[in-house]
Amino acid sequence: MTQPVRSRLVFPPQQSVTNAVLSPQEVEVRLGNTSIKGMGYHQGLLGPTLIANAGEQAQIKVQNQLKEPTNVHWHGLVVPADQDGHPEQLIAPSASQTYLFQIKQAGGLYWYHPHPHNLTAKQAYLGLAGLFVVRDPLEAKLNLPVDSQEAFLVLQDKRLENNALDYKPNQQDIMSGYLGQDILVNGQKNTQMQVFQGIYRLRILNGSNARVYNIAFDKETPFWIIGGDGGLTETPYPSKAVLLGPGERLDLLADFSSHEAGSSLKLISQPFKGVKTQGQQAFSLLDIQIEKGPIKPYLIPNQLATLEKIQTPQGTKTRSFELQGMKMSGVDAMPEMGHGSMMMPTGGNTIMRGMHTINGKTFDMKRIDETVPAGASEIWVFDNSKGDEIHPMHLHGAQFQIIQREGGRNSVFSHEKTRKDTVLLMPGEKVSIAVKFPDYKGKYVIHCHNLEHEDDGMMLNFELI
Ligand code: C2O
Ligand code: CU
Ligand code: CU
Repeated sequence: MTQPVRSRLVFPPQQSVTNAVLSPQEVEVRLGNTSIKGMGYHQGLLGPTLIANAGEQAQIKVQNQLKEPTNVHWHGLVVPADQDGHPEQLIAPSASQTYLFQIKQAGGLYWYHPHPHNLTAKQAYLGLAGLFVVRDPLEAKLNLPVDSQEAFLVLQDKRLENNALDYKPNQQDIMSGYLGQDILVNGQKNTQMQVFQGIYRLRILNGSNARVYNIAFDKETPFWIIGGDGGLTETPYPSKAVLLGPGERLDLLADFSSHEAGSSLKLISQPFKGVKTQGQQAFSLLDIQIEKGPIKPYLIPNQLATLEKIQTPQGTKTRSFELQGMKMSGVDAMPEMGHGSMMMPTGGNTIMRGMHTINGKTFDMKRIDETVPAGASEIWVFDNSKGDEIHPMHLHGAQFQIIQREGGRNSVFSHEKTRKDTVLLMPGEKVSIAVKFPDYKGKYVIHCHNLEHEDDGMMLNFELI
């Protein structure tokens, strides 16, 4: 009945955020048939899923057992600047830091990962990442699927051709991002998720360095988008496919009740247009095996959340961020995954750095690029209209609302109709967002969440004063 080569998908252990411990360390894990060296926040790739209730005080001790500095950024969480994992705030090897902050935001799926400049991409790629779930009472009232009917999925692409998880980007990798042809779900390869014939809540993180997924099912399966990065949408939106960039999250309800017990389907990435370097063919993300078993009946609610609109009256301060990547001949020839062609020869290439800029600048740890009054509401515009690369732009320190997307796909998509912290810009697109900054003061960053671009310097500081 089941495909013997696949093992059962395992979900990371859950840990309360009120007294959590993370231990960044080198790990050795079994992936498929081989043993692979990577990094984790516990003895395995990735880390525990941290669980918080809105209002709670988080206390998370991070003990660095690596041979290099690291730190932790709580992606999507609005925390004081000195707890945010700014690239300047490092934890030395053998040192520890206890992060303290209060959860002051809506229920949602957030995540955590390292943020030391020039090491973020490598450490995240090698396995340092984990989920951070915030629960709140309004969400609890909706009676959404829980326990075994709520599945957390971290999607990542890796290169495992040499039975290793090496991180050695060449020039083309820095341009397109470090793409791999092996898909890991929750840090595991060739797995299968068992479901019964009913409604499941799938909470998905694109935890890849650079890959965009066009998430869909390969067999007719009704599903509804119920949320994105920073919480629920106002209503469920029936959907067929969702384009999800690195760093973005997706909350959906999928109804498997029309599938027969014993059958299987796949969560896949569908081909998409707009860029030549990826998504040119469908590929499988996760096998889903339908089985007979006890299922709790759930309904698709009509109404989910009420989103307070961030007001941006006439005269609201607007800041523009022009995104740029240097055009490099040969990038267009970057092959798609699937034929072992992802491994580009590195032979003797010298690496040119600093090709990805925001407003013509690359990251300078000490330079303050924007000064913003704490508590202010502003309009920020990310402009990729002249760019020819994909840039998932991410803001620390706040959740924002998307006002509009001009050019390219020219619309705001269902999973974007909520609070966001990361927004995908395809080439030719310009996105305006409304942001209400917190009352915290201090230094935060904005950057491209293509982690190769970020480490290449596609990041700026802003200071709340
Ligand atoms: Cu998920 Cu500044 O990053
Ligand atoms: Cu972040
Ligand atoms: Cu980018």
